[in-house]
Amino acid sequence: MSIIIIGAGLAGLSAAVTLAQNGVSSNLISSMQSERAQSVMAEGGINACLNTMGEDDTVENHFEDTISSGMYLADAEAVRGMCAAAPGIVERLGSLGVPFSYNDKGIVQRSFGGQRKKRTAFVKSSTGKMLMTALIDETRKFEAQGLIKRYPNHCFIRLITEDNKCCGAVVRNTYTNRTVSLRGSVILASGGLNGLFDGMTTGTTQNTSDAAATVFSQGVELANLEMIQYHPTTIAIQGKRLLISEAARGEGGRLFINRNGKPWYFMEEKYPELKNLMPRDVVSAEMVQVAAMPECDSQVYLDMTAIEKNVWNERISDLREQCVHYLGIDPANKPIPVSPGIHFFMGGIRVDREHRTSMNGLYAAGECACQYHGANRLGGNSLLGAIYGGQIAAQTAMKEAADNTEEIIDIAEEPAEVSCGFARTVSEILYKALPILRKEEELIAAKEELNLLKSRAGNRAELNRLNLALAAVMSAIERRESRGAHKRTDYPDRDDVSFKKQSVAKISGDKIDISFKEIKGRRD
Ligand code: FUM
Repeated sequence: MSIIIIGAGLAGLSAAVTLAQNGVSSNLISSMQSERAQSVMAEGGINACLNTMGEDDTVENHFEDTISSGMYLADAEAVRGMCAAAPGIVERLGSLGVPFSYNDKGIVQRSFGGQRKKRTAFVKSSTGKMLMTALIDETRKFEAQGLIKRYPNHCFIRLITEDNKCCGAVVRNTYTNRTVSLRGSVILASGGLNGLFDGMTTGTTQNTSDAAATVFSQGVELANLEMIQYHPTTIAIQGKRLLISEAARGEGGRLFINRNGKPWYFMEEKYPELKNLMPRDVVSAEMVQVAAMPECDSQVYLDMTAIEKNVWNERISDLREQCVHYLGIDPANKPIPVSPGIHFFMGGIRVDREHRTSMNGLYAAGECACQYHGANRLGGNSLLGAIYGGQIAAQTAMKEAADNTEEIIDIAEEPAEVSCGFARTVSEILYKALPILRKEEELIAAKEELNLLKSRAGNRAELNRLNLALAAVMSAIERRESRGAHKRTDYPDRDDVSFKKQSVAKISGDKIDISFKEIKGRRD
């Protein structure tokens, strides 16, 4: 038996290692080497209730914070499983050599957004890089045993399907253009939909969103596409947005805006319990609202000048270096200007608790999948969700996969270059239509513009991208309420009766349909 994994970031590696630990081999396909995956860029940490900080933390607390921050839009049983597995996952990462800091009780943890306890394990603000280094090492070990075969520099072209069952994938070597078909069940771990907002997110532009767009056009259901997380503290730099990790606020950074010429620490005044560490959807929306007040300036700042020297040195020295390098500002001495930027896609390929998609033989994990984060993800849960989701997807895939023999066939039918010439235009339309505060007329205008582009699409990649973009806009139109990251100025209230549900996008023929489905394991 051999399983195909598309994507070699954290979720893909986690799936490959899990399969290998069970003696199951995999073909690991990725457009880049793992060292360049988006996961490497993750900064602030990974959540787990380790209870090492003397705060009586429990797995139940982690579960509650996750589910309530996600505004009850995630499968509660799936979230429970992730939170329960988290301590074991983080301890194991420590045993693989991830250089967490330790105190006399174990791994040190810090405060992060939306959490009532210190629960985020970290390696300064380079946690993703350190986790990836450990898992890349594991992968190489199993590669040497012949259980993992890596195909770096290969892009995913399409699924091979028979009777709505996935039985393989077509992939292309981007160096040689050799195109092959591989047979087997497929786990998609292709990352977030950053390509939909080309160069406008904190994520890598290499996460094109083409894989999700392709499988959507092949009939796979997507969910909650309107749930796009704006991280409160980002800065526009050349070609992307620079992330200023939530660790900055976890370690004492304070947001303020000048109101009538004096600094106003609006988060501290409005939210005395969690202050600057409210969930990201709340902080970002507050930033937009205070910046629009006539008595306020338009720029919000992050003030880290009171952070002590040892905290800078021991916990966030790399964040400081980043600010000096990209902004020419030393944040230890001067507040930095920040604004919300797109950081994470809670929506994606619809999966069940076992990470099955709507197509037999196809599984999904990591940011490309819609599972643990509901309407708003907690910082520190993405690395966890990627590792845990990769494990579950692998376990399900190996249970259900046919005992196929690996078969690699050269094929010549695919044109060598197919790209989306509309990518920039699509990004601009979406960016305008899907800001933090949305309204119907802008969403409708975007839908019309996208439909017009669709009528002019010249190749399959363009058509796929436009279908995905349309599905996101149509999901935002249909969710006539405000919940988590999706805030409608024309529907400012949460509507639990109609919309405590997952939005589901499905394509048949040329028609995109949006419906709302009950959430399994729903918790009120
Ligand atoms: O702010 C951050 O370091 C981001 C972490 C996350 O999104 O989990």
